[in-house]
Amino acid sequence: MRLVLFTGKGGVGKTTAAGATAALLAARGRKALVVSTDPAHSLADAFGIPLGPQPREVAGGLAAMQVDAQLRFERSWAGVRDWLGALLTQGGLDGLAAEELTVLPGAAEVFALLEVRDQVTDGPWDAVLVDCAPTAETLRLLALPEALSFYVERVWPTHRRVVRSLRPVLGRLAGDPPLPPDGVLDAVGRLHGSLGEVRRMLAEPRLSSVRLVLTPESVVVAEARRTLTALALHGYAVDSVVANRVFPAEIGGSPWGASWLAAQRAALEELAESVPGLPVRRAAYRATEPIGVPALVELGEELYGGSDPLAPAAVAEPLTVAERHGEYELRVAVPFVRRSEVALLRSGDELVLAVGGQRRRLALPSGLRRCVAVGASAGDGAVLVRFRPDPQLWPRGADR
Ligand SMILES: Nc1ncnc2c1ncn2[C@@H]1O[C@H](COP(=O)(O)OP(=O)(O)OP(=O)(O)O)[C@@H](O)[C@H]1O
Ligand SMILES: [Mg+2]
Repeated sequence: MRLVLFTGKGGVGKTTAAGATAALLAARGRKALVVSTDPAHSLADAFGIPLGPQPREVAGGLAAMQVDAQLRFERSWAGVRDWLGALLTQGGLDGLAAEELTVLPGAAEVFALLEVRDQVTDGPWDAVLVDCAPTAETLRLLALPEALSFYVERVWPTHRRVVRSLRPVLGRLAGDPPLPPDGVLDAVGRLHGSLGEVRRMLAEPRLSSVRLVLTPESVVVAEARRTLTALALHGYAVDSVVANRVFPAEIGGSPWGASWLAAQRAALEELAESVPGLPVRRAAYRATEPIGVPALVELGEELYGGSDPLAPAAVAEPLTVAERHGEYELRVAVPFVRRSEVALLRSGDELVLAVGGQRRRLALPSGLRRCVAVGASAGDGAVLVRFRPDPQLWPRGADR
């Protein structure tokens, strides 16, 4: 089983590449499901048939579906939200504050991931290909399981305590406060468990990887580097790059065409230098939109040729610790990173690593929890943080 997420800037060909990969796999005798988490219905347009929230067979071995995250959210969380809203309103908080307290940031999107997880664990597929929304949203989505776990682990217990301490006040004001209906606490617990599973599923490089789709233009290549940094920061493995809409040599006959050919060639060279070791697969700019299964299979053949469309990423270990002269060095693999872009914050047993607007909470390996961070550097595809045993936690002469 393999799970591949296709992401990239808006309009570069994510839906087309995901559809072409699925169509090719099915044509080669594998069972493939392509899932769109993008509310725009372009996957249905690429296959030329309507799609809904259940997998629909498109061709032999090929199925497609359009996740309705809002629907899933309403089904499993509306009860929790309504209860909290009622409780807080009754306690004298106005509607707006109650609303703020009960809306989990981006919760609807996370349900798209839960749907993907269900298909990965319960579906009959050899591969699940996810046609993601453009990069920025995808990154937010991929950061969510971690962010929401943080909410559930840290904010929810406080939230629950506050609710409990409000009880006497609420009781005086407005009769008995509504008790949590059966299942509210269960729902939170279940969500927490599911998020952990989603996070583990996405961070397992033999199962999951991200494929970055782009068009060969210099601005796009620059953005691709930032995306690779952000994905690595969150611990997601990138297996390859798809360079789509590569102009065919025959347009070189006119000055306009020759200029575009030269610009694309330069961007492709820059890309190859930027991502050494990462396969770059190409698909030519076609004379017509690749719509329907035969056109997508053909595009898939061009992309993968004799290679396996499900080859996993060749990944560097995302997190390693080395001991050197009584100090420890934590290495977090993050490509294209400069020290000036890195901010570090220690928070209990976690290290918060921020790089260019993206934050990642890393649970420190147990050996480092009783150490203090004494310095950091970046470069060569990694952030290095040096730790020294904390003399207060490790008194001199104490047995280590
Ligand atoms: N190699 C190609 N040659 C010609 N047309 C292409 C090619 N690849 C994609 N297209 C067309 O370009 C348009 C955009 O492609 P697609 O929908 O796959 O991009 P996307 O990255 O999914 O876009 P969005 O960000 O809007 O989801 C579509 O009309 C598609 O048919
Ligand atoms: Mg799309």
